[in-house]
Amino acid sequence: MPGAAVELQGITKAFPGLLANDAIDLDLRAGEIHALLGENGAGKSTLMNVLTGIYQPDAGRIVMNGAPVRFASPKDAIAAGIGMVHQHFKLIRAFTVAENIHLGWPDTPFRTSAALLESRTRALSERFGLLVRPDARVEDLSAGEQQRVEILRVLARGARVLILDEPTAVLTPGEAAALVRALRGFVVSGYAVILISHKLDEVLEVADRVTVLRAGRKVATLRAAECSQAQLAALMVGREIGGRRRGGAGPRRVGPIVLQLAGASADDERGVRALADVDLSVHAGEIVGVAGVAGNGQRELTEVLTGLRPVTEGQVRIGGRVMFGADPAAFLAAGVGHIPEDRLRSGLAPSMAVADNAVLREYRRPPVARGALFRPGAALALARRIAADAHVMVPNMRAPVRNLSGGNQQRLVARREMRVSAQALVAAYPTRGLDIGAIDTMLRYLAEMRDRGVGVLLVSEELDELLGIADRVAVLFGGRIMGVFPAGEAEPERIGLLMGGRAEAA
Ligand SMILES: Nc1ncnc2c1ncn2[C@@H]1O[C@H](COP(=O)(O)OP(=O)(O)OP(=O)(O)O)[C@@H](O)[C@H]1O
Ligand SMILES: [Mg+2]
Repeated sequence: MPGAAVELQGITKAFPGLLANDAIDLDLRAGEIHALLGENGAGKSTLMNVLTGIYQPDAGRIVMNGAPVRFASPKDAIAAGIGMVHQHFKLIRAFTVAENIHLGWPDTPFRTSAALLESRTRALSERFGLLVRPDARVEDLSAGEQQRVEILRVLARGARVLILDEPTAVLTPGEAAALVRALRGFVVSGYAVILISHKLDEVLEVADRVTVLRAGRKVATLRAAECSQAQLAALMVGREIGGRRRGGAGPRRVGPIVLQLAGASADDERGVRALADVDLSVHAGEIVGVAGVAGNGQRELTEVLTGLRPVTEGQVRIGGRVMFGADPAAFLAAGVGHIPEDRLRSGLAPSMAVADNAVLREYRRPPVARGALFRPGAALALARRIAADAHVMVPNMRAPVRNLSGGNQQRLVARREMRVSAQALVAAYPTRGLDIGAIDTMLRYLAEMRDRGVGVLLVSEELDELLGIADRVAVLFGGRIMGVFPAGEAEPERIGLLMGGRAEAA
């Protein structure tokens, strides 16, 4: 009979103007996968940061093996066998997988040979069933691979309790399934996992028990086998919520082309061709979905369309005008907004204030600027409005934006970019990290933009989401467009084949 691996008793954590955790109890048993659910900002990451010694609780205690413990830092927590993989990766991009896994590990003499680190990495990888290439550089890895490295990094330090903060948000369905298998194997050997996720179907499939937080309080702990998605959703938001709204309003009159690639090619960071001879256009009043497995040119596609990356051949046109070179300011001036796939690296300046981040794209425009004059009062007022429109509660607009919860950062970037999308919006995975209610809101916003005559390019791996809202769907594979279909005629099976690179038979 497995006992409690860790108990949290009455954990309370306040930030200025906000009670993030309010007397939360949670017991984690050896051998279980325990899911932690809650809306954006409910306090999930904060609670886990308390458990791993990043934050000190204002009240309450952590108990292990019947005795209270104190973690002054993550080092203490990992020494006690508790390790966490964060919502935002913390690997060093220029180092290899093996170097990252062994970094700061006390029994690794730092000047040890690469071969030794790599063979140890290989052994770990096999032991836990998490596939990595020890000699690859982190900057060359897909999100899924980076995550496996993060997990191995924690396991290498002897973690017996593994905390994963939204691990599958950035994974392809195949990668997510492989991760779940590895976690299952992991708990079978007596370890324990806390899994934070917004995907209720996934939670019910993999978790043994589920704890739901709402506005900093614990609402319930339930056995997964005994609850439904609807029940969990209702517990999260505190009321019954309706089913998911679908788009698909049928054929619509669209306007002229606002965003266009003609014979466009582009290279990735390493100079390898990542987009090859792409023809794609988005009309005013239309949502074009881009389906495909991440890493097939999506990043480069969104970057050439927003002035972050030059084309090596072909043209980018906005509203019929040819754009030359990579010049984000020119694309902004032309009315193109961008929700990037990696909000913390390219969407936000993490250590800058919420207010500055919110008005980042409009600080040269009225009302924030009058001529060359910057008007701080107007900037703050606009920032407050953007935060309110994004449904983000910000106690202090001067606090760094990294203090916002992951989902709230995403909402803020999205709202800010929608405001500057006079012609077109390029949105990469805009629903990533959002809770279920916020996903609906985001999709509704995209539909509203379309109805106002904006052209929307929506990159997503969720085929259901794309087919539900897009007017046309383009499939991207190996940097090429494999086909473009009216959403109403697109068969998921056929799109799936194209996503895997299988061209159509006759
Ligand atoms: N260091 C901090 N300083 C001030 N406020 C913070 C800090 N960290 C978190 N908060 C606030 O505490 C609340 C809970 O945030 P937390 O990150 O725990 O939410 P979450 O449940 O993980 O949400 P999400 O699903 O969006 O990731 C939020 O309102 C957030 O802004
Ligand atoms: Mg979080």
